[in-house]
Order: sequence, then C-alpha cells, then structure tokens
Amino acid sequence: KKVVLAYSGGLDTSIILKWLETEYGCEVVTFTADLGQGEELEPARKKAELLGVKPENIYIEDLREEFVRDFVFPMFRANALYEGQYLLGTSIARPLIAKRLVEIAEATGADAVAHGATGKGNDQVRFELAAYALNPGIRVIAPWREWSLTSRTKLLAFAEENQIPIAKDKRGEAPFSVDANLLHTSSEGKVLEDPSEEAPEYVYQRTVSPESAPNTPEYVEIGFERGDAVSIDGEKLSPAELLTRLNVLGGRHGIGRIDLVEGRFVGMKSRGVYETPGGTILLAAHRGIESITLDRGAAHLKDELMPRYAELIYNGFWFSPEREMLQALIDTSQEHVEGTTRLKLYKGMASVVGRSSPKSLYSEQHVTFEDDAGAYDQKDAAGFIKINALRLRLLGMRARR
Ligand code: ARG
Ligand code: SIN
Repeated sequence: KKVVLAYSGGLDTSIILKWLETEYGCEVVTFTADLGQGEELEPARKKAELLGVKPENIYIEDLREEFVRDFVFPMFRANALYEGQYLLGTSIARPLIAKRLVEIAEATGADAVAHGATGKGNDQVRFELAAYALNPGIRVIAPWREWSLTSRTKLLAFAEENQIPIAKDKRGEAPFSVDANLLHTSSEGKVLEDPSEEAPEYVYQRTVSPESAPNTPEYVEIGFERGDAVSIDGEKLSPAELLTRLNVLGGRHGIGRIDLVEGRFVGMKSRGVYETPGGTILLAAHRGIESITLDRGAAHLKDELMPRYAELIYNGFWFSPEREMLQALIDTSQEHVEGTTRLKLYKGMASVVGRSSPKSLYSEQHVTFEDDAGAYDQKDAAGFIKINALRLRLLGMRARR
C-alpha cells in the first residue's frame, strides 16, 4: 500500500524508491532530513519529483536543532563512548530518523516504513528497534535484505531500466560508505576494509590533518548549564549553532579523527574512520566542567554506568526503559554542572587548560600545600588510614602465619 522511505536523494535510495513501487506495488512517501550532513536538500526534492513522487508525498525537514538538543546533548551528559573511543555519531541519529518515519507514516496513513541500511550492519537494527518501540504495528521494509540486486552491475542495470539518473562518479564503485550529520562523518568499507592499512588522507572530509593544522594554538571558552553547553566565548548559542561552531574550530585544528575497529551488534567487527571535531571538543569541555562540579561518588558512579549506556545507544535501544532509567540518573547528576571550561586547540588536541564555576567543589583552602588556616587537620588522616588498613593487616598477618 503506502510506505515512508528514508530518502537521501542518492542513487541507492533512488533505486529503493523505484523498487518499492515496482516490486511491492507501493505508493512511496519520501522523507529527507537535514541533520547537518552539509548537503542541500532541494536536489533530493527535485530527484523525488523526477522519479514521479507526488509533491504532497515529499517530506523535507530541518531536524538539526532537535537532533542536537534532544539526542546529542543528552548523550553527551553521559560522556558516552562505545568501546572506549567511538562517539556514536551515526548511532544517535538513527532513533530520530526512525521517529520521524513513524510519525510521517501515521500522518499519511502509510502502514510501512523503509530504509536503505544493509542486513550486515547496526543501522538496520537501530531504525527498526526504534520504529517498533514507537509503533508496535508498523511494517518495516529493508530492501537490502530482500532484493536480488546483489552487485553494482545489477543495481546500475535496474537504475537504467527505471530511468534513474546516475551521476558519472557513481558508475564505478563508490570509494567507501559515508554517513554524515552535525556530530560526525563516518567512513567505512572499500579502501578501509583492510584494518592493517592506514586510511588514505582523502578519506577525511571535515578535518585537516593535525600535521597541516595551524602552528599557533587557539583558545576557546565553553559555557555550561545543567550539563549542556550553552555558549562559546560568552556568546549564547542554540544547540545546533553551538555544535556547528565547534565543528569549524575542531576541523581547522585537526581535532577528532579516529581510526578504529569496532564490534558490531550483529557480531562481526568492522573498521571505521570517524571525524567528530566539535564533539571531541565538547566531550573534553564537559569532563572539564564536571571535574570541579561533580562529587566524586556521583562522578565515579556515572562513569561506571557509561559503557552500558553507550552500548544501549550503539545497539539501537534509545527508546528502551533501561536507557531512560540511566538517562534519568545521568540527568540528575548534572544539576550543578555549570560554569566555563577553557580549552586550547592545537594540532589534533583539545586540551582543557582552565575551568571555573559558581558551583565549584574545588576548595583551594583545603588542598593548598601552604598554611590552610585550620581548614583540614592532618592528624585526622592517621586514624582514617589506620582503620582502612585493618583488613589489609589481618590479611598480611594470615599470610605470615
Ligand atoms: N559503524 C558506525 C556505527 O555503527 C557507523 C555506521 C555508518 N553507517 C552508514 N550507513 N554508513 O554507528
Ligand atoms: C549498513 O550496513 O547499512 C551500514 C553500516 C552499519 O549499519 O553498521
């Protein structure tokens, strides 16, 4: 009947569009979102029209603010990293796209949604878990898992038969697979598939190499309120504006490049090259402001839970009770996370060089090596150590018997 397709305007999703019409006999509604991938959206509208989609069935939306405010920022409150390194730039965008697919399906009376993720990856899982969570009765069509267009030659033949225009540079194999949004650009596949080989420089799309970054450092001050970044150098900015600015700064200084091998949810390992310039600065800045405003017990507890939280997002469980429970805990911890972090950006590094906050727990009077005017009695530490040592001494006594 009717299906809402996550449509980029590119060759692959254009083929999917036609395939849904011809193989499934569906009426197709296209949904194209601006998540800050840095591409014009109007060409996607033109392309959909050209392929015969009715104007009222073409949805084009700017979701940048919602993406950063309701997905990226909550995730950054947790300092989330998957397997110690990946800032989850693709993972965090999928639930939002799925949410809009389901909402548009409901608004247009469609009974299915479709996406262009393959049957080998994480994205299919993320799109579909989110869609089913938000609409348990929705049907999902994943053409890559179903069709017989299993080679580039077959895909191009199908495109030709169906009058889908093919850009010259798309005739051969795409050099690698890219996903981009305001948080990151990911590159996977093709030249990157041998993890023993260094990624060629042309893979990087939004950062200069640290070697060719400026020889003079640049300083930036990021202001926080309740754990979210709200300003740069004293200027208040919306979430998307702020991340856009940080991306420019980070990109210029070669910040946020990572080359890693990760464990996909479906079981295989994959090699990815990620560029997260603004996000890398933001993570360092957030840890900087937390370092003076979070109590040690609170900080260590959220750090223990962080890998669980990151794995839930990676695996596609954004809309799950366990993610929401962890989010509530993390959000609670952020009540006093406000103030300013000062960072130095230089040749691939975002180093925290200063932090200040009206809510600071840092007490120079207590920590000073100079005269502390009676703030802390060093004699108290003797009993503290003695009682903590008791179990260790009993163990030691047994070992010597
Ligand atoms: N491996 C990363 C992840 O699972 C990036 C996936 C990129 N997706 C894409 N369609 N190119 O989050
Ligand atoms: C895909 O398989 O469609 C992209 C990679 C991934 O989802 O992990």
